[in-house]
Amino acid sequence: MDSQGIRSQADSSCQPNEEQPAVTATDIHVTYEDGTEAVRGVSLTVGNGEFFGFLGPNGAGKTTTIKTLVTLLHPNQGTVTINGHSVETKPQAVAESLGYMAQETSIDEELTARENIRFACNVYGVPASERDERIETLLDLVGLTDVADKRAENYSGGMKKRLDAATALVHRPPLVFLDEPTTGLDPEARMRLWNYFERLNEYGTTVFLTTQYLEEADRLCDRVALIQDGTIIATDTPEALKSAVGGDILDLTLEDASEQETERAIEVVRKSDVLETATFETTDDGFTITAEDAREAVSELFVSLYEADVTVTGLDVRSPTLDDVFLTLTGEHPEAAHENGATEQGALDSGRGVVE
Ligand SMILES: Nc1ncnc2c1ncn2[C@@H]1O[C@H](COP(=O)(O)OP(=O)(O)O)[C@@H](O)[C@H]1O
Ligand SMILES: [Mg+2]
Repeated sequence: MDSQGIRSQADSSCQPNEEQPAVTATDIHVTYEDGTEAVRGVSLTVGNGEFFGFLGPNGAGKTTTIKTLVTLLHPNQGTVTINGHSVETKPQAVAESLGYMAQETSIDEELTARENIRFACNVYGVPASERDERIETLLDLVGLTDVADKRAENYSGGMKKRLDAATALVHRPPLVFLDEPTTGLDPEARMRLWNYFERLNEYGTTVFLTTQYLEEADRLCDRVALIQDGTIIATDTPEALKSAVGGDILDLTLEDASEQETERAIEVVRKSDVLETATFETTDDGFTITAEDAREAVSELFVSLYEADVTVTGLDVRSPTLDDVFLTLTGEHPEAAHENGATEQGALDSGRGVVE
């Protein structure tokens, strides 16, 4: 792969001012025509070169925020600056200085990968003399060289996403917005995309990624913002967020996980005084304990429960994940809530640009 391809030939007009953050959004509000307050006072800053994650469940306001940042929606209130340009007064400069991969794939499936990228080059005004080389570089970057002349309709979901990502990059933007690029992909396809985004970021491209997969954000992002109901509830590095959960997590599976038995088991643990401070959460098949000393207390807890006639059939101690962070802050699991992206995407398609 020719790493020069991505950075060194970047159009000078698209270069970020290194002094300026890549993205600054201050108190953005977006209300759709039907009165839905999709974004309620979002503020965030993304530094140059950063890999930034925007995390939240379906309907939290991720796409609405991203569309506002890339100038597709006008906020009802608030200001946005991208690469030093105001979205309000310099929308053209903003649009030229970023790449955007929408939640819904925007490739033409009747065309081949090479033709799709060539078409994007035309749209973005890539000089004719540079097109061929740029197309080959991008095909190589996203691993589609071998199938470059096959029509996209024959591609797997992951290949289509990689092609879509390539078309968002033809003008070599210093900043890319990726809206749930891996939703619905199988683990292998997801890994390939991660690998590609990581390389992109290593070459210096600032990445703004939205996802409902917390593991993805944890793995890729320097910092993440968690959004719920149109409001950011936390912004920090994944490590800091996880350490704020307060200790390790013990997942217990009970033979009898009825509400009554689970409550009784939790009471046994509480009364045993094995843990100094702990929080409890019931699950489908038992309960979880979060406590600083959870790891050391495992065998003692096991004995206490055994003596109280509670049959534990499974036990797992682990460090907190971003899912636990979300659960602690909101009482909800963002991923569990929905895997029905397609319906929501349909709604979004029809709603594009309705906010004035
Ligand atoms: N065009 C639209 N008109 C009205 N409401 C919308 C429209 N698009 C999205 N919404 C609503 O705005 C909220 C945020 O949606 P969205 O930004 O798509 O969230 P996310 O990308 O996090 O799933 C949801 O309640 C959604 O139903
Ligand atoms: Mg979305």
